[in-house]
Amino acid sequence: MHEDDLDMVEEQHLRSLTAPELEGDERAIDAALRPRSLDEVVGQTRVREQLGLVLEAARRRGRAPDHVLLSGPPGLGKTTLAMIIAHEMSTPLRLTSGPAITHAGDLAAILSGMNDGDVLFVDEIHRMSRPAEEMLYMAMEDFRVDVIIGKGPGATAIPLEIPPFTLVGATTRAGLLPGPLRDRFGFTAHLEFYEAHELDRIVHRSAGLLDVELTEEGSAEIASRSRGTPRIANRLLRRVRDFAQVRADGVVNRDVAQAALELYEVDELGLDRLDRAVLDVLCRRFGGGPVGISTLAVAVGEERETVEEVAEPFLVRNGFLARTPRGRVATAGAWRHLGLVPPEATLAMDAEATLFED
Ligand SMILES: Nc1ncnc2c1ncn2[C@@H]1O[C@H](COP(=O)(O)OP(=O)(O)OP(=O)(O)O)[C@@H](O)[C@H]1O
Ligand SMILES: [Mg+2]
Repeated sequence: MHEDDLDMVEEQHLRSLTAPELEGDERAIDAALRPRSLDEVVGQTRVREQLGLVLEAARRRGRAPDHVLLSGPPGLGKTTLAMIIAHEMSTPLRLTSGPAITHAGDLAAILSGMNDGDVLFVDEIHRMSRPAEEMLYMAMEDFRVDVIIGKGPGATAIPLEIPPFTLVGATTRAGLLPGPLRDRFGFTAHLEFYEAHELDRIVHRSAGLLDVELTEEGSAEIASRSRGTPRIANRLLRRVRDFAQVRADGVVNRDVAQAALELYEVDELGLDRLDRAVLDVLCRRFGGGPVGISTLAVAVGEERETVEEVAEPFLVRNGFLARTPRGRVATAGAWRHLGLVPPEATLAMDAEATLFED
């Protein structure tokens, strides 16, 4: 792949949406690795099949597909799927995000500029303002909005027709969406973390696009440390590639991958600095918890959202952290992963949790 092959227009649109730590060049690479069609998407078999059907049916009817909600942790492919929906329907994608729509008027302006069949992608849809949200309900259902002109008793509502469009909403926090908004999506896809063999395919695919020579073991090493997340798999591949080019002969084999990932502080289970910091603070400073998420975030010097949306889902899924009504607690596995002996109370709690699950 050459840098000039990159779709710079798409890259511009994505500027505000991609991970903040990505610098220009890296961001461009990120965009270039994005699958363009449903066929190119790795994993998420069920979502792919369901979405494929929704799109095919819409195509046959010659109508805009139903509104689609994509939910799941960061980096699993929500933005990718939104772009694919527009691509598969051969329509332009209009891009905005919840925090960008502060007034209902902002949304009215976007909606009035849409053409028949356009796809409107609203990223972080759970962060939209209340009045905008209410305007969106109406637009989704009736393809019409009321624009309020003036203030107080003299205010008048002017109805505005909107051509049929498809709303694609993305959220890392489906639970925060108000019921009426959630109910207006005809199809909801919840993206799950990826299996190691799927990440392995993603690493192979990306290595091919980036012209990186990779052995099976090298790829497996990266895949197994990617926290079930394609974005992380791609990022680790880039770091390992740097290492391979500077400190080895350019080939990514097991030794190179292990040495590089050790350098970047990604451990054998894929825990990064933040994950380990969370567990470390939880065990060493708070005796294993329970601790509220805000306290935990302050203690590791991170935003609450980052801890809650990035570190926590992975730690919970891997059985290191449990959510209880009184706060977050470390499991025995977390203590052991840090090389510590779990206290009696933790062992008792884990046993109880197991019984409860049964
Ligand atoms: N199913 C997949 N197959 C191959 N690559 C994927 C897949 N899903 C995601 N990726 C890769 O991972 C990167 C991140 O995906 P994407 O930006 O779509 O995540 P996201 O869910 O929108 O994350 P965020 O919540 O942070 O916005 C993409 O650049 C893409 O290259
Ligand atoms: Mg995204």
